[in-house]
Parts: sequence; C-alpha cells; structure tokens
Amino acid sequence: MADVNLKDVHKSFGKTEVIHGITCNIQDGEFIVILGPSGCGKSTLLRMIAGLETITAGEIKINDEVVNKLEPADRDIAMVFQNYALYPHMTVYKNMAYGLKIRRMPKAEIEQRVHRAAEILELTELLDRKPRQLSGGQRQRVAMGRCIVREPKVFLFDEPLSNLDAKLRVQMRLEIRKLHEDLKITSIYVTHDQVEAMTLGDRLIVMDDGRAAQIGSPLEVYERPATKFVAGFIGSPAMNFIEAHLNADGSTVELTENINLAHANDIPSAYLGKEVVLGVRPEHFEIAEAHSGMLSLGVDHVEVLGADTLVHGHFGEDRTMLTVRLPDVHHFQKHTPLSINVPSRKLHLFDKDTGSRIGI
Ligand SMILES: Nc1ncnc2c1ncn2[C@@H]1O[C@H](COP(=O)(O)OP(=O)(O)OP(=O)(O)O)[C@@H](O)[C@H]1O
Ligand SMILES: [Mg+2]
Repeated sequence: MADVNLKDVHKSFGKTEVIHGITCNIQDGEFIVILGPSGCGKSTLLRMIAGLETITAGEIKINDEVVNKLEPADRDIAMVFQNYALYPHMTVYKNMAYGLKIRRMPKAEIEQRVHRAAEILELTELLDRKPRQLSGGQRQRVAMGRCIVREPKVFLFDEPLSNLDAKLRVQMRLEIRKLHEDLKITSIYVTHDQVEAMTLGDRLIVMDDGRAAQIGSPLEVYERPATKFVAGFIGSPAMNFIEAHLNADGSTVELTENINLAHANDIPSAYLGKEVVLGVRPEHFEIAEAHSGMLSLGVDHVEVLGADTLVHGHFGEDRTMLTVRLPDVHHFQKHTPLSINVPSRKLHLFDKDTGSRIGI
C-alpha cells in the first residue's frame, strides 16, 4: 500500500533537460497512466520512480519517505518492461520464484506465492514450460506474475503490451485492469496508446515534451482538454482544428467564411474580438436538414467502417479540411454538399499562440 508523490521532478541528460518539472500526487491504490508521444519523457519519468535513473532536481516520495537516493531494490517497487526480460533457461515457475529466492524467502512461502500468482494469471498449467514454449500473451503474464509474487508497494509498467497483436492487447488490457481491481496495488503505466490509457487509467498524466500538459480522469481529459496538444492527442480520429475569430461580445465564433457558430462558454474578456483556434471532435458533428446546417461540407472521401462512417470533406473558399464521424452506415457521393451542425456545448476554443484552453 503506497501513495507516490512527485514534486517538481526534473531530469537532464548532460546539458539537455528532458523532464521540465512534473508534480503529481498519486494516491494509494490508484491506476495512473502516463500517456504521450514517442520521446516526450514517459520512460524517463517511470525510471526515475523506479530508481533506474537519478533525479536531477525535485523530490519523489513513496508514502512519507523521500526515495531520491534509494537504490531500486530498496524502493519496494516491481516493474514490467516492454520486452518482459524473462530468463530463457528457467521454467515459468523459476522465473517467478527467482526474485524471492535471491531475497532468501523461505521455500514454502515462495511456493505459496508462486502458486497463488499462477492461479490469478491462469498459468498453473504452464509452470514447467520455458519462455520459448509460450505465446506472447503468456510470456506477458509470466512477467506480471514475477511482479505479483513480490507483493510490492507499487507496480510500474512500461508499454507492456506493445509487442502483442491487436486482439491480444485488448484481452491483456482487460486482464491488467481486472488484476488491479483485485489487488488494488498503486500502479503507474506508460503507454503512447490513447485507447489503452482511457480504458486502464483512473487518471492520466498527458505528457507534452517533458511537461505534464494535463492530469485528470479520462473523461476530464476528453471533455475538457487543457491544451490544443491534449485535444489533438486524445480521441480518434483526431479533433478538427479551425482558425476562427471570436466576436466582440463572445456570443459567436466566426469562421473564415463568415459562418457564425453560437458559443455559450464563458470567454475571458482578453480574447473577445481575437483570432482563436476552434476545436471540434469528428463525432460531435450532426447531419442537418439540407441547407439548414451551420456548415456546408463538400464530401471528398467516405470510409464506411461498419459501426460508423468517417466523412472527410472541406468547407469554405480556402477549403478547410474536416473529418466527421457519423454513427451507422452512410453512403455519400463525392462532391455532395453535406449540411452539418455542431452543438455549441461541444465547441472547444484554444489560444492561437500558446494552445491553452480558453473559457470553461
Ligand atoms: N540515457 C539517455 N541519454 C541521453 N538522452 C536520453 C537518454 N534516455 C532518454 N533520453 C532522451 O530523453 C527524451 C525522453 O526519452 P524517453 O525514453 O523517456 O521517451 P519516451 O516518452 O519513453 O518515448 P518512447 O515512447 O519512444 O518510449 C528523449 O529525447 C531521449 O532521446
Ligand atoms: Mg519509452
């Protein structure tokens, strides 16, 4: 049982700073996902929590103990890596037992822990096999088993599912979540896969170039992205961004083509009359009666996916590109004008220069 507190954590490699001050209080039993594109510093942050990288500045506490200078082995943390790092010459049983054996745990206790973990992970039948005789998903479970037997205070995961095929990823994702609900061990999980993040995390830390762009529940991050970066990173297909002008009274957003959209959010007065970026998620457009919608979209390309349909099109003289996602199956001819609406509560506005969210 542990809470983990990061306070203004920085990391530099030589003269290059890659983590620029991250603060987050992770509660006991919480499942936190660190999400962001390649190179944004996810693994570095995780490795600092594990003690595999030094901390350049700031403080990491596990419960009330500052662990900045503690060796990894003394932090009571277990980490699952992307490549599982199983010992190829040892059986599944020995792979799981090894960490306990070198800690000189009594044999009976080791046996009990390994069998219990094997049962939880449905590995009991496979205890005598070597890693090469296992599927990717089974190896992944052995790697988790090796962590579970240690009964650590904190679990760390670094992209543990990225070597698996799409179907197995979905299955293992559910298993990891179920395991967490059973064991309630504080977990910190790194991924660049937003679906994994949204389905696993109690809260997400969305990282943008070494900074926490937003920390919040999956729905908070989806519904009220703090920056344009977060808005574009969460959601698939990605949010549409359109250059727009905020009218002086804040009641409407004017698009490039003199199209006015109602806007109900509270807008700070500094933005009134200014150029802004409007964000609309593809799934938030609605089809309107012919000619009665806010926008007339020229259809360029239609992707019928079965459960829903993606319409790629453009509007206005400068042919601003938009992607619209409609439930169910639709067939539209290329060049058809499609009349579409957006409910005003589904509009997002961002600062044109800084990308930060405008209004509530
Ligand atoms: N040992 C190191 N020495 C120098 N630079 C490093 C070192 N480790 C990482 N970096 C740099 O720090 C930055 C963050 O790397 P990190 O591995 O944390 O990214 P990541 O978010 O985990 O990316 P990925 O999704 O590709 O795994 C990168 O620019 C990387 O090149
Ligand atoms: Mg990484």
